[in-house]
Amino acid sequence: MIREIVQVGDPVLREKCKPVTRFDGELAKLLDDMKETLKAAEGAGLAAPQVGVPVRAVQVDVEEGFFEMVNPVIVSQKGEQTGPEGCLSVRGKAGTVTRPDKVKVVFSDRNGNRYSLTARGFCARAVCHELDHLDGVLYTDKAENVHDVND
Ligand code: CO
Repeated sequence: MIREIVQVGDPVLREKCKPVTRFDGELAKLLDDMKETLKAAEGAGLAAPQVGVPVRAVQVDVEEGFFEMVNPVIVSQKGEQTGPEGCLSVRGKAGTVTRPDKVKVVFSDRNGNRYSLTARGFCARAVCHELDHLDGVLYTDKAENVHDVND
């Protein structure tokens, strides 16, 4: 089921999201709905608070693949990249953000199995952007020259 993507100004986007403790059907439904919502919106990533659920779960859909991460933590980062960014919760805008060039993230899948992923380039950017959502941070907080785009 496609869920509504909440927009900037909604306080749920500013919450410190709670860790997932139950790897149950409710989580699976949330993640299935997020995936459907993300695909329909043709975005690079989506965090649970963006569909109004302040829990620590994100998805990233990039060239390298589709990654679903529950309780993700960045354990190391390296380098720096500066580039354009947007957000499904900040429609019609883009800005330039500096992020790490490489990150290693440890996370659970929807069944509670722990994995790690090393992401580089745009994938690293997407991971950092989505993880920021879990702490109530939007890219516009970090961006230079946020401007209107035709979308
Ligand atoms: Co976003």
